[in-house]
Amino acid sequence: MSAPQGKKLIVIGDSGVGKTCIIARFTKGTFDSNSPSGSAGYTSKTVKIPELNQNLDLDIWDTVGQEKYKALTKYFYQGAKMAILVYDITIKESFESVKNYWYEDIKEHAEEDIIIAIAGNKADKYDNEEVPEHEAREFAESIGAIFRLTSAQNNSGIDELFEDLAKKYLDNQNQELKQNTIKLDRNDVAKGNKEQKNTKSCCK
Ligand code: GTP
Repeated sequence: MSAPQGKKLIVIGDSGVGKTCIIARFTKGTFDSNSPSGSAGYTSKTVKIPELNQNLDLDIWDTVGQEKYKALTKYFYQGAKMAILVYDITIKESFESVKNYWYEDIKEHAEEDIIIAIAGNKADKYDNEEVPEHEAREFAESIGAIFRLTSAQNNSGIDELFEDLAKKYLDNQNQELKQNTIKLDRNDVAKGNKEQKNTKSCCK
């Protein structure tokens, strides 16, 4: 595996909610109904955001099965800029875990400005839905997170999920850059004023 080059995006949630399938659908365009539990590590992909005229390289990290023991290491969270918290819309418990465990784990271990998305996966099984969409949406809104219903099987909502995250990350970066440029400009003006004042006083 080559050294990570892109921005780190982690995908977390209970075992079996479809994390590996979401990543495989996005990066390879495939769906394997017998997806091996806890494979991968990280996979890289570039996301294009035409409206910003920018691209973002992502390194997408899978949990490698550690989540079964609810024991993701600090190393897993280290340096993560974005996170997808996945639940299975047919398993209420997996949504409760997102709210009461995974979100708390992120707050404890990840960087403060990490960008979060909540994904309600297996949306193709809506006949067996146990988590009402509005409930999940409300939770996402309450924590300032992106929300998407996804189906790795039917390929719905997956590209949009990653694009939403990349766009928010780039928007924040652009905003920060703008603020820093304004600050630098102000400093230049202040420095200029001071120099002018000094020149004046020396030549009075
Ligand atoms: P661990 O590897 O144990 O952490 O699980 P995981 O969260 O990575 O889940 P994984 O991607 O291995 O998927 C678990 C099961 O759910 C597999 O049998 C998948 O085929 C199935 N699955 C994943 N996504 C979907 C989906 O969108 N719809 C349906 N119907 N099944 C899905």
